[in-house]
Parts: sequence; C-alpha cells; structure tokens
Amino acid sequence: MKTLLITGGCGFIGANFIRFMLARKTGIRVVNLDKLTYAGNLSSLADIAADPRYRFVQGDICDPDLVGWLFAEEAPEAVVHFAAESHVDRSITGPSAFIQTNVVGTFTLLDAARAAWSDRPEGNGNRRFLHVSTDEVYGSLGPTGYFTEETPYDPRSPYSASKAASDHLASAYFHTYRLPVLITNCSNNYGPFQFPEKLIPLVINNALHGRELPVYGDGRNIRDWLFVEDHCRALSVVLERGAAGQTFNIGGNNEKQNIEIVTAICHLLDEMAPPLENGRPRTSLIRFVTDRPGHDRRYAIDAGKIRRELGWQPDTSFEEGLRRTVSWYLEHDAWLRGILDGSYRSYYESMYGGR
Ligand code: NAD
Ligand code: TYD
Repeated sequence: MKTLLITGGCGFIGANFIRFMLARKTGIRVVNLDKLTYAGNLSSLADIAADPRYRFVQGDICDPDLVGWLFAEEAPEAVVHFAAESHVDRSITGPSAFIQTNVVGTFTLLDAARAAWSDRPEGNGNRRFLHVSTDEVYGSLGPTGYFTEETPYDPRSPYSASKAASDHLASAYFHTYRLPVLITNCSNNYGPFQFPEKLIPLVINNALHGRELPVYGDGRNIRDWLFVEDHCRALSVVLERGAAGQTFNIGGNNEKQNIEIVTAICHLLDEMAPPLENGRPRTSLIRFVTDRPGHDRRYAIDAGKIRRELGWQPDTSFEEGLRRTVSWYLEHDAWLRGILDGSYRSYYESMYGGR
C-alpha cells in the first residue's frame, strides 16, 4: 500500500481529490491532515470516513512537531499539498493568516519532508511532493496572451503573493536539497463542495434564495474556469508521471467574463429551481458593486505543456460542468445549510444578512 499524505483534504479541491483517488486507484491509502478552518468541512468526506484506506488527522501544517510525527508514523510516499487560505477577498481584509498558512505552513511541510526523506536522493524511488498552486501568481493579463510556465511571477493580492512565496520555497527545496517537488499552477476551479464565498457557489446560493448577486466592478473580469474533477485527474497524472522539479500549468481553455457566468447561473436556476416570487427572472437580482482593490483583469492559461508531455486535457465543457454544479447544489442543500453556521454564518450575514 502506498500512503499519500494530503493536506487540506476537507476543503473544496482536496475533498474532491481524495474522493477521486479512493474511487479510482487501488493500492493507495490516504492520510488527510486538515486544521478544519472555516473552509474545512468534515461532511464533504462523511461517506468515506469509515473506509479502512482513509485516516483523518486534525492539525495545523504550521506545527513542525505534528508534521514531523506524521511523517514518522505514516511514512508517506507522496505529499499532495492543498492546505491554504484561498480566498482573495479575505486576504485583503486579513492577510496575516495567508502568510502563516501559505508561507510558513508550506515551509514546515517541505522541511519535514526533507528530514524524513533524506535517506534517498531525488530520482531514487517514487517519492513526490506535489505543491498545488494557482495561476494567480502570474498576475494580470491584458486582452491577449496566455500564462505559460515561463511567465514571470507578478502577484497582485496578498493571497497570490503568499502562494508565489510558497512556490518559490518549493522550487528552492528541489534545487537545494533535491527534494522531489512538483508544482502545478491551476486556473479557477468550480464544482461540488466549493465553499459559498467563491463566485459560482455564492451566486448559486444567493440566486436560489432570491438574494442580491454582487458583481464586482463592470463584471468584465475574465477567469479561465476548470471543472474540479478535471483538475483532480490532472493532479493524479502529474503525481504519477511528472518528473521531479517540473512545473505544469493546468487550465480549462475556457475564458468567461464574470457577468456571463452570473447570468448563466440565473438562467439555469430559473429552469431548474422553483421560481422567485412574482415569477421575476433571477437576473433581476444582479447588482454591480464596488470593485475589489487590485482586481486582476484577466487570467488565461496555456496548458500545452501538460497536454504534450502527460497527455492531459479537460473533458468537461463549461456548459455541462455548470449544469452539474447547479444540480449538485440543488441536491445537497443540507451540505450548504450545514456549513452556514458558526464563524462563516456571521461573516455571511454581515455581507448579505437581511437581503
Ligand atoms: P479551500 O479554502 O476550500 O480549502 C482549504 C483547506 O485547507 C480547508 O480544508 C482548511 O481547513 C485547510 N487548512 C487551512 N489552513 C490550514 C492549516 N494551517 N493547516 C491545515 N489545514 C489547513 O481551498 P481550495 O479551493 O480547495 O484550494 C486548495 C488549494 O488549491 C489551495 O492551495 C489553493 O491555493 C489551490 N488552488 C485553488 C483554486 C480554486 O479555484 N479553488 C485554483 C488553483 C489553485
Ligand atoms: P473568486 O471566486 O473569489 O476567485 P478569484 O478571485 O480567486 O479569481 O472570484 C472570481 C471572480 O468573480 C473574480 O473576478 C471576482 C469576482 N467576484 C464577484 O464579482 N463577486 C463576488 O461576490 C465574488 C466572490 C467574486
């Protein structure tokens, strides 16, 4: 049995990845280290909690004693590192947690892996440290062009700056210590189990209940959207076949303006959910609000390297992925209700309460 140490497995992509791997791969065990911040949700993995191939450990990646103990106890062959503070708006109002988890936490994990794996140099064995990162490290594009693996880093938000710092540390551990690091920089994900502070689940949740839909600025900022299951498949391919020291960009080849997405969700909900009072269309809930400070205009990924070298490309069209996502949220109202409590509820109500 090969043991994978997954960090942040109770978050959006981590939970999808654990489900993906346990459903499709034999001969693996998963140890999930997660602090259970506001974004971590045990109910996303409730149906696999009793699987003998799965172990959950609640804890902080910034704790060197805990992380060192876990490497000794579980002897993982690979690490897939998702744990992070991940929401740009929160990084603007409270950057400190982003520096702590994303920078110090990533350093703590890298250093524990270096200590635990010092017996075998890179190239010997199948050990892998897969650092999951974002295309936001590359900054903002104008109307044309794409991010490649060679694009210089130019992060603009505390979130993307903290992820850029963690990428540099991961890369430094490869060059300095030959730790078998791989880095992936992925575009915006969407799909089941995404926390409803991010654009797509926030709009689904608000539009479902007739609440206002805040669109920042002119709504014409562009993101390259990827269905989360396609991202999980890309990560599994990189983990299995990527050479240590490599970076891969992962993207959906699917650029959309925010306003197009918000409008598409309104149309889907008008079709799939009970109508609003007076039968008014959900697009009437759209409100253009003050722009996010330093709002990156456009992200677009050139995913040619992972396609050429590892044969990966996205399978799910945006139309299909968005319909599946809306259906999932309609069918999992209990999941949504369950997380709208505690610290998140107070944040959410301060933003949307009474409307
Ligand atoms: P998320 O916010 O949904 O989940 C983060 C998880 O990490 C939560 O379960 C949380 O409890 C855990 N966590 C946070 N701090 C921790 C700590 N100190 N110790 C242990 N666990 C901790 O995030 P996500 O959207 O699933 O993103 C996962 C990773 O993928 C992140 O590294 C993010 O930068 C990257 N990424 C996300 C996207 C996207 O569109 N969501 C795109 C590209 C890259
Ligand atoms: P988000 O889901 O926060 O992802 P990121 O900032 O990491 O790309 O936001 C996606 C886009 O949607 C981004 O351009 C900001 C915009 N946005 C809104 O217009 N309204 C909202 O309420 C949110 C959360 C985001």
